[in-house]
Amino acid sequence: MTTDGFNFEGARFDFDAAQDRAILRFVLSQALFGEATGVYCGRSLYTAETLEAAHFYVKQARQELSHLQLFAEIFRTLGLTPEPPHWVIKVLAAHNDYYPLKVLMEHALGEGMVLDIFRDVLLQTLPEHDPRTASIQKKLRVVCKEEEEHVAWGEKETRRLLAKTPALGPAFYGLLELQLALAPYAVRGLQARAPNHPVLKQLPAFVAHVQQRVWRQGQALGFVPLGARPSLAARGGAVGKGLLLLARSKFARATSKLDHRYIEELGFPAPDKQHARPDAGASR
Ligand SMILES: [Fe+2]
Ligand SMILES: [Fe+2]
Repeated sequence: MTTDGFNFEGARFDFDAAQDRAILRFVLSQALFGEATGVYCGRSLYTAETLEAAHFYVKQARQELSHLQLFAEIFRTLGLTPEPPHWVIKVLAAHNDYYPLKVLMEHALGEGMVLDIFRDVLLQTLPEHDPRTASIQKKLRVVCKEEEEHVAWGEKETRRLLAKTPALGPAFYGLLELQLALAPYAVRGLQARAPNHPVLKQLPAFVAHVQQRVWRQGQALGFVPLGARPSLAARGGAVGKGLLLLARSKFARATSKLDHRYIEELGFPAPDKQHARPDAGASR
């Protein structure tokens, strides 16, 4: 994922203003919830097909747990307490046991948008001269660096799955359209709180920037059409395919993989190939 970032042109929050504290509390509460659900990636160990995937999910679970702690420390530094998550964040953070949707929607797209918010909004808009800013930015940079790794994994796996099953492409495109349509709802309530705030009044432009970035990301991954956006009817058809895949994924049973593949994954000949060579199992 490449990004030029969004420029808030010097607009910043004030840690001591009541209205700004309420906005930051809202934003940080969504981040805290996202990190708590991020820990569920540990569940993906059960369906990991390769040792590489198993290593990734163990590492990711540790990182998400540490992000949860880092955000808790940011709340404490600012003397804030978390509030319940927004419904859009709950929808976007829902765990999916169907692996192709998990890597696309959670890692490539979902964590990609999380990174936009952490890197473009939070890192840029904290008050410049407040003594609490430096320690908060330091924590956010650690989180951003690790979220970049999670997005990179999602993109790598999405490419691999699309090469293996190209028929996933139209449904993936439809789901991207759906996520783009949902994104403005997450910030709509926030803008209403303080429409003239120097940071918040730039949110519509920021959302448009994120939508364009996600569009280009989908094109780079190969499932979003190059050139002009497809017609409304074509988009509707793709969204239908995406929703069908999403509905089917809800009934997907998580099935274990490594207990069937560990011998090959560890670099030994697969048992079915050993049958072709009767001496392959001998110790001499
Ligand atoms: Fe995280
Ligand atoms: Fe993450």
